[in-house]
Amino acid sequence: MDRNLALELVRVTEAAALAAGRWVGKGDKTAADEAATSAMRRTLGSLDISGTVVIGEGEMDEAPMLYIGEHVGNADSLEVDIAVDPLEGTNICAKGMNGAIATIALAPRGGFLHAPDMYMEKIVVGPAARGAIDINLSPRENLLRVAEAKRCRTEDLTVVILDRPRHDKIVSELRRAGACIHLIPDGDVAPAIAAAVEGSGVDMLMGVGGAPEGVLAAAALKCLDGDMQGRLVFLSQSERERAVAMGIKDFDRVYSAEEMARGDVVFAATGVTSGDLLTGVRYFSGGAQTHSIVMRSQSRTVRFVEARHRFDHKPVY
Ligand code: FBP
Repeated sequence: MDRNLALELVRVTEAAALAAGRWVGKGDKTAADEAATSAMRRTLGSLDISGTVVIGEGEMDEAPMLYIGEHVGNADSLEVDIAVDPLEGTNICAKGMNGAIATIALAPRGGFLHAPDMYMEKIVVGPAARGAIDINLSPRENLLRVAEAKRCRTEDLTVVILDRPRHDKIVSELRRAGACIHLIPDGDVAPAIAAAVEGSGVDMLMGVGGAPEGVLAAAALKCLDGDMQGRLVFLSQSERERAVAMGIKDFDRVYSAEEMARGDVVFAATGVTSGDLLTGVRYFSGGAQTHSIVMRSQSRTVRFVEARHRFDHKPVY
């Protein structure tokens, strides 16, 4: 994968974040998502790639832009698959709460798991606890193994979990085992990445969230040498049928980050609102400041990019 592409990708997530940033706290998640999606698509159109969206805004009949199967980019060569979430955390953006990001990942053609829009059970840790997690074990056992790998007490570990009734049991089990639980209202991609970033204050992500978000997190985790396991959660027969149509045969399969994001992947994300990982868009007179992360699995280079944008020279914003 062309290494310059990584920096090009930051421009794509910056554009989406700058567009969504105007909708922070405005109570309209649909408008925020549309603004991010159209800015991301416009910027993607200028990249020298022949890209196909495999994780996107939905099926062709339900999403006008960045739908699954849409071709993007302005070249015939450099065939890549693209996973996008122009605004990850639409509700938190609309409510002006912490943790919304704009994100994208690229893989060689066929590299991403074609995850249907359904749930995935996830467990994520950083490099220090690589190899210690097992999704088939209880939350408590995983916590103990991570504490042992990180040579600390369970009381020293912070686990991020989506604040949902379906997680009540996991939360009480982990609390009893001593962990500090950080419940989030939405947006589990950024904390999954944070778990693998030294000093973020996050040690693990656990629980059930979106499967497409799981694939995006897997791409990031691979670049960070973190560890992740994911298993699709089927709630109905129609979800099983959709999964089969997308090439999934084994419903109980546990996917590693490598199996969800194969080959040389590139990942970028820009903060829309501030969170554990990234600062949100900050507007000032005539411009705005953005904070992004961009990384490549081939080199394992992780860059944090702080950019100042001048709207008098970039009137599109
Ligand atoms: P949006 O699609 O509104 O941005 O929500 C994203 C998200 O919070 C993900 O981060 C998470 O994986 C998933 O939704 C959780 O789904 P649910 O809200 O159904 O529990």
